[in-house]
Amino acid sequence: MNKLYIDKIRSDFPILSREINGNKLVYLDNAATTQKPNLVIDSISDFYKNTNSNVHRGIHTLSIESTEAYELAREKIAKLINSPSSETVIWTRNTSESINLVAFTWGEKNISSGDNIVITPMEHHSNIVPWQQIAKKKDAEIRYLPMTKDGKIELSNISKIIDSKTKIVSLTHISNVLGTINPVKKITEIAHKNDAVVLLDAAQSVPHMPVDVIELDVDFLTFSIHKMMGPTGIGILYGKKHILSEMPPYMFGGDMILEVSYEKDAKWNSLPYKFEAGTPNFADAVASGVAVDYLNQLGLENIWQHEKKITEYAMNKLSELKKIHILGSLDSNDRGGVISFYHQDIHPHDLGTALDQRGIAIRTGHHCAMPLVRSYDIVAAARISFYIYNTFEEIDIFISSLKEIEGYFTK
Ligand SMILES: Cc1ncc(COP(=O)(O)O)c(C=O)c1O
Repeated sequence: MNKLYIDKIRSDFPILSREINGNKLVYLDNAATTQKPNLVIDSISDFYKNTNSNVHRGIHTLSIESTEAYELAREKIAKLINSPSSETVIWTRNTSESINLVAFTWGEKNISSGDNIVITPMEHHSNIVPWQQIAKKKDAEIRYLPMTKDGKIELSNISKIIDSKTKIVSLTHISNVLGTINPVKKITEIAHKNDAVVLLDAAQSVPHMPVDVIELDVDFLTFSIHKMMGPTGIGILYGKKHILSEMPPYMFGGDMILEVSYEKDAKWNSLPYKFEAGTPNFADAVASGVAVDYLNQLGLENIWQHEKKITEYAMNKLSELKKIHILGSLDSNDRGGVISFYHQDIHPHDLGTALDQRGIAIRTGHHCAMPLVRSYDIVAAARISFYIYNTFEEIDIFISSLKEIEGYFTK
């Protein structure tokens, strides 16, 4: 993608022309959340100005329009991930809620004492803690797939971990710390041979690359709309229909029921509504559909290729700085657009603050993956992460600022 095209894309994002501490914003914290284009921002205010009404409830025009817009957005999400139907696409609040939903409904029903749950050492807390909680409740074991120092799953040893007692393998598609792209198809094949299901945490993949649930054959897929140019407070759980149909509801209340009486039991609504209790976040769902339109307009393959180039460029530049240590693989072909690193003499928080003074937003800390960051014998790391609107010039500004800060701290 040439510079002119990226500049045109950048002009769709009002925040990118902001100044921070007297400098032009360089936003390199996209793995935490992404910026929003005008189309998405405008769709939210347009919805409240023109269409706002509760969904699935009214027979009046506004409610019908609102319901249609809400369901159309669901269909757009289904198409984006190649879900065979929109029935199997459930709106949640975010990836964390989607994983919790699976752990405490599917897990509650299917995990028993002596079973095991397999995850990887590179999971975000939201794909560790729910499993630990359900494992504790059910007296099940948590197992970790073996990982090399450069952040790759060791497939040769995997059959020692995934066995006939494995009920679920829950793993990230792309690590939010190491950038590792995991071999999902291979792991899924092994899990299925052992009659285990697979949950793919796609928080860092669906926004950046084409993801196809049929091709990957995963049983569940989770992601957050705020990481793909859409609004906050809304996320997705996809599941295979026969699995979702058998799962008990997660929350109870309006819209998720078919029939309620004064007696003890109610009848549950069909998919996907069984999992959507109460008034849903329909305004943001509609804006999510607009975010999907925008992503499709740019092309996910184009986004992926642009990020790969930016990542390679940034990795090469960072590797020239001898006191910087990159976590994970040093081969940019193995990664998505995420690079975590530390400076051997400067605390990441000092680095983050000094960069912020120059208008550069990066993430510092444990990145919600405390066990992983600690496994590298550090307490915190700095992280830069990219999206379609990042430029090579921004990487140059970041690197020259890093050199300047290094000079200042280490003189
Ligand atoms: C890989 C991964 N999984 C899960 C999450 C949690 O997403 P959310 O905070 O939107 O629930 C994140 C967020 O950074 C992530 O990067």
